[in-house]
Amino acid sequence: MTDILASWPRPRLLHLNFSAGPVGDSVSRELTTLFAGTWRGLHGGAGYRYRDLAAEPVPLVGPAYVALGTRMERRGVVPPAEVTTLTENTAEEREWALTLPLISELRAADTVLIGVPMYNFTVPASMKAWIDRVSFPGAYLDPDTGESLLRDTRVVVVTARGGCYDPGAPREGLDFQIPYLRAYFGNLGVSEVDFVRADLTRAADIPALAGLQDLAARSLAAARKEVTTLATRDQAA
Ligand SMILES: Cc1cc2nc3c(=O)[nH]c(=O)nc-3n(C[C@H](O)[C@H](O)[C@H](O)COP(=O)(O)O)c2cc1C
Repeated sequence: MTDILASWPRPRLLHLNFSAGPVGDSVSRELTTLFAGTWRGLHGGAGYRYRDLAAEPVPLVGPAYVALGTRMERRGVVPPAEVTTLTENTAEEREWALTLPLISELRAADTVLIGVPMYNFTVPASMKAWIDRVSFPGAYLDPDTGESLLRDTRVVVVTARGGCYDPGAPREGLDFQIPYLRAYFGNLGVSEVDFVRADLTRAADIPALAGLQDLAARSLAAARKEVTTLATRDQAA
């Protein structure tokens, strides 16, 4: 934890991408790149960190992760630095070595920028793997107060979806992505989560959506404007 804080000057932007699509075609990548470029124009590059978690996904959690987490839960809130001293075998050490850097950077970031497509009505498996791993018991709780250590963290979720889930659309009610992420980050104690959506991104490819290309273009233009505004507003210090 200390190493990460020492070598990561503020303000800190942690940028994560989860699109498995080709880099040049990915709308969520384009939009988060625009956010990051705007942010770096304002704050410089020193506080910027990037992970492509589609290209390099975190491994699924395994039995040693679950055993370690369960043991920590029985002890109450154990700070991540202490968990390191409480592993009981090499499998747990390996799991924790994979997990701790991800937790540390999430705790340390001022802003977390997430590019995430909708896959099968929810988040891609690469994002669920990251969520399962970073959600280690007690990792974001202040052991003294029980308050969330992420209460001042700003999360910006930029999502691209092939279809549309607005009220009145045929797929209204099938969005298990934004409500899920809102519940997830809310439960972690994050008080500010902004969602930016580019909808109908497949309108040019899918014949049944061809008549919706104007709507798609408008959605993308609005999303570009919104990410620029959000990045400009990000003055965390
Ligand atoms: C595996 C897979 C599953 C998808 N499932 C959905 C879906 O359930 N609903 C939807 O609206 N679009 C779906 N899409 C379309 C993507 O959401 C859309 O192409 C989006 O732009 C992908 O994000 P990206 O452009 O950042 O890669 C799916 C695409 C893939 C590759």
